[in-house]
Amino acid sequence: MSTFVHFLLLLCFCLFSLLSVHSLTLPSDIAALQAFKSSIKPITIPSYSCLASWNFTSDPCSVPHITHFTCGLYCTTNRVIQLTLDPAGYSGTLSPLISKLTQLTILDLSDNNFHGPIPSLSSLTNLQFLSLRSNSFSGAVPPSITTLKSLQFLDLAYNSLTGSLPNSMNSLTSLTRLDLSFNKLVGSLPKLPPNLLVLAVKANSLSGPLYKSSFDDLTQLEVVELSQNSLSGTLQAWFFLLPSLQQVNLSNNSFTSVQISKPTNPNSDLIAVDLGFNKIEGYLPINFSAYPLLSSLTLSYNRLRGPIPSEFGNKKSLKRLFLDGNFLNGSPPAGFFSGGASVSGSLGDNCFENCPVSSQLCLKSQKPTSICRQVYGGKPRS
Ligand SMILES: *[C@@H]1O[C@H](CO)[C@@H](O)[C@H](O)[C@H]1NC(C)=O
Ligand SMILES: *[C@@H]1O[C@H](CO)[C@@H](O)[C@H](O)[C@H]1NC(C)=O
Ligand SMILES: *[C@@H]1O[C@H](CO)[C@@H](O)[C@H](O)[C@H]1NC(C)=O
Ligand SMILES: *[C@@H]1O[C@H](CO)[C@@H](O)[C@H](O)[C@H]1NC(C)=O
Repeated sequence: MSTFVHFLLLLCFCLFSLLSVHSLTLPSDIAALQAFKSSIKPITIPSYSCLASWNFTSDPCSVPHITHFTCGLYCTTNRVIQLTLDPAGYSGTLSPLISKLTQLTILDLSDNNFHGPIPSLSSLTNLQFLSLRSNSFSGAVPPSITTLKSLQFLDLAYNSLTGSLPNSMNSLTSLTRLDLSFNKLVGSLPKLPPNLLVLAVKANSLSGPLYKSSFDDLTQLEVVELSQNSLSGTLQAWFFLLPSLQQVNLSNNSFTSVQISKPTNPNSDLIAVDLGFNKIEGYLPINFSAYPLLSSLTLSYNRLRGPIPSEFGNKKSLKRLFLDGNFLNGSPPAGFFSGGASVSGSLGDNCFENCPVSSQLCLKSQKPTSICRQVYGGKPRS
């Protein structure tokens, strides 16, 4: 053999041993990481950042990480299981090859500037935590996301996502926290994941009523944050009977009426309700006073009329009550103003006849008599 062939063999051997020493990570994971990094504009990768340390002359999963791959990912032996980027302001798209990192349990790209669509993640069957919060993703919430049976935490808030929510959301059987707030989502809520504790779709363009079918079986739901949408119609009695509810914010929507039953669960944990800035007509729902822990109730800027039921005046749990901007009349319950009273809030901008100006509840003045006369047909009811 010629020396040249010898040389080639030696070279091959050297390269091979180099690779076998250094290559621990599954090659398809390395390829996925390379594609991930090359979809990000180099100019947006600061020298101090995690991604700057991703230098593929080293093996991503080999420890120790002294100069290369110092942060942003975690491995178990040869597979990448976490991709948790620092908020360095990375700008680019999310490579569809991310779907090759099939052992990922955590994918967190929050507080960066990723844009374009969210690619299919359906092969990431081990994914438990997905946060793309505070980026610039656009397009739809990919329906493929609903196949992620291990997903417990999904945060896509503060992006520019459009369209309606995927229909099969309820197949996300492990999901306990869902935050899609501050996007541009439309339509009504689909049937929701059955084990949700926290539902937040604040500041979107959801419309139509809330349907019981969306919330069926959500026996663990504690927090509902759907303020700043265009939800409308009647909020029906089933809603506040969801057995684990604690905090509800439906303010800044277009609901026109609410039905509130007494709690069926005597240990109801409902503590805070905000229904402000809707178009709710009718009387102040007396049954709110039957919720034993209710501490904060806001119904500001609706179209409520009639008096405040005296039950609210004796309600010890009540600490904050905002009823300003309605057409409530009569005299507020004396209990609000007695020595030991500890209710704060506002009763201003209503049609109350005897709101003691010495109370901070009455600081904001009442509506002009002319307006109240119009509403009550010239005969104020008390
Ligand atoms: C990657 O690391 C190698 C060896 O340490 C170095 O020569 C090279 O400049 C690095 N590349 C980048 C882009 O930093
Ligand atoms: C409900 O949401 C509105 C608007 O998003 C916010 O201003 C308000 O403070 C919230 N209410 C409570 C009780 O936190
Ligand atoms: C809620 O709606 C009112 C009236 O439309 C508006 O003045 C207020 O700024 C809104 N609040 C939020 C937090 O959007
Ligand atoms: C209060 O709740 C009871 C059932 O718990 C219901 O029958 C009644 O109609 C409710 N009252 C109002 C004013 O909604």
